[in-house]
Amino acid sequence: MTIPEIDFPSSDSDFIKDPYPFMKELREKSPVVLDKTTDLQLVTRFDGVKNIQTSKNFSSSPPNDLEGTESSIIDPKEYEYFWKTEEFSLLNLEGQLHGDLRNLVAKAFSNRQVQELRPFMENKSSSLLESLKGEEFDLLKDYAQPYSISVIGKLLGVPEDMYEKFLDWSNKIVKMYDLKVSDEDSADAENAAKEFYEYTLSLIDQKVSTPGDDMITRLAHVTENNQKLTKNQIICTVILLLNAGHEATVNTIGNSIVTLANYNIDTLNLDKTYNIKNIIEELIRFDSPLQFFQRWVLDDDYVGGVEVKKHSKVAILLGSANRDADSFMEPDQINFERSNLSHTSFGGGVHFCLGAHLARLELEVSFHNLFSNSILLESQPERTGAFGIRGYKEIKVKI
Ligand code: HEM
Repeated sequence: MTIPEIDFPSSDSDFIKDPYPFMKELREKSPVVLDKTTDLQLVTRFDGVKNIQTSKNFSSSPPNDLEGTESSIIDPKEYEYFWKTEEFSLLNLEGQLHGDLRNLVAKAFSNRQVQELRPFMENKSSSLLESLKGEEFDLLKDYAQPYSISVIGKLLGVPEDMYEKFLDWSNKIVKMYDLKVSDEDSADAENAAKEFYEYTLSLIDQKVSTPGDDMITRLAHVTENNQKLTKNQIICTVILLLNAGHEATVNTIGNSIVTLANYNIDTLNLDKTYNIKNIIEELIRFDSPLQFFQRWVLDDDYVGGVEVKKHSKVAILLGSANRDADSFMEPDQINFERSNLSHTSFGGGVHFCLGAHLARLELEVSFHNLFSNSILLESQPERTGAFGIRGYKEIKVKI
């Protein structure tokens, strides 16, 4: 079967507003379609996405035997610091190096250490919401962002007066992960990466001389089989934890509250009517904050019966997979009693989200506090315009 060619409307505002009807058409057309603009093969259905997430034949780093500049998404010469902050990002590594690095990071990021943050999260979430009651406020800027950045800042051991800077750097750097990136955004991302890199380097030196009870200290000291993380590896990990952790969690809070409002589901006591864990998974499935990830094909293979060639690239569409009617009954409906909670939004296989335990706890605490109120949308919010990281510009609400 040949792969149908399409124009994926990733910058079209109507598509961004609600991409799900178009992605449904794509799923019905073929398990794989070729986007003419980016030359990416888009994987549309749940089975294909799940198989790629768990297959060793699809790699997040360029194949060793692929030559030329196209083997890297970023030109290291033009974007020196952005590249330096990505060099040891777990997301881009495979094989032994990925496994070794992931084991070391996981040791410094255990479930116990995350659970110890619960009282901090509860305090932060309650005090933020208490100060906002009765007024119109922006759910993202006034609640989700300060909440999430303080949790990740506390976990890492970043001084509070640096949170604003961290937010700014993170916002600029993550723009590089979309399907199309403007020159201006690339230049901003490079500058932010430079500042971020230099600051984190000095922070690691401080933690080595004066250890604290935080993750940067643990990353600087953790060992396994006599292996330690290098400074570069720690910097890449800190940046990944901040970027991966912060944006996805903030947008999940925003997307979820807007979904509930648009479906006329009263938030008051929602967690007393349904299991909070089911609510979280269903809302993440319904409007995934991260919509796609790319992989190289290492050897000729088939996706849903369609051949994908060695050294070509695929993009797995997580949000589309989560709306596949072959895997989820009535996928366009919200159902907090769904028996199948196995969505694709946290990834799968060796790259499965390393912070899923933290994200789930942050969301549980946040939703629990938010759901002691009825939340009213003051106006219909506007999307940011990005496809890859799906969220809103601002969400004006009243509780
Ligand atoms: C709702 C929130 C979140 C969502 C939806 C999410 C989603 C994902 C997904 C889909 C991947 C796999 C990417 C791939 O296949 O290439 C991933 C990887 C990762 N996530 Fe998350 N994430 C969330 C929150 C977090 C948090 C809070 C942290 C940590 C602070 C975190 C840290 C990571 C890391 C380190 C990886 C890389 C794992 C690897 O490549 O081995 N994430 N995440």
